[in-house]
Amino acid sequence: IHERTLILVKPDGVARGLTGEIIKRFEHRGYKPVAIKLLLPTKALLEQHYEEHKGKKFYDALVAFSESGPVVAMVWEGFGVIANARKMLGATDPAKAEPGTIRGDHAIATGRNVVHGSDSEKAAKREIDLWFRPEEVTRWTSAA
Ligand code: CMP
Repeated sequence: IHERTLILVKPDGVARGLTGEIIKRFEHRGYKPVAIKLLLPTKALLEQHYEEHKGKKFYDALVAFSESGPVVAMVWEGFGVIANARKMLGATDPAKAEPGTIRGDHAIATGRNVVHGSDSEKAAKREIDLWFRPEEVTRWTSAA
């Protein structure tokens, strides 16, 4: 039940004013935010975040775009959140994403796909540790 995942609203998502829309979807689904911040990520952070793509032909453009403006980094918690967040995001290529998903409703290009979500438990742990200091990730229980 304490499964957690890292969600990033990428520079295109922040610039287009989609941050609220993305937060809303996770809140309405019933997931719990345990950390949220806006930052200009350093190249070093992005190189670590995207290390599995190093050497691929889109890598340089991916890192350059990702450092082009602020991103909103968030940790969401709840049952099945890692796999369900991926479903809520839709396919990496927005042209293949189903309508009703974030990318299916808001994007058309892979290089401008608005949002990132961890793709496994291992990735989630690694990425949360990369983007947040332990004390930034809150432990709280709903009063509602
Ligand atoms: P993301 O989920 O952040 O993980 C890797 C990112 O690389 C992906 O979303 C896309 O934004 C970006 N990307 C750019 N080109 C490609 C590509 N050809 N295949 C996969 N990912 C790509």
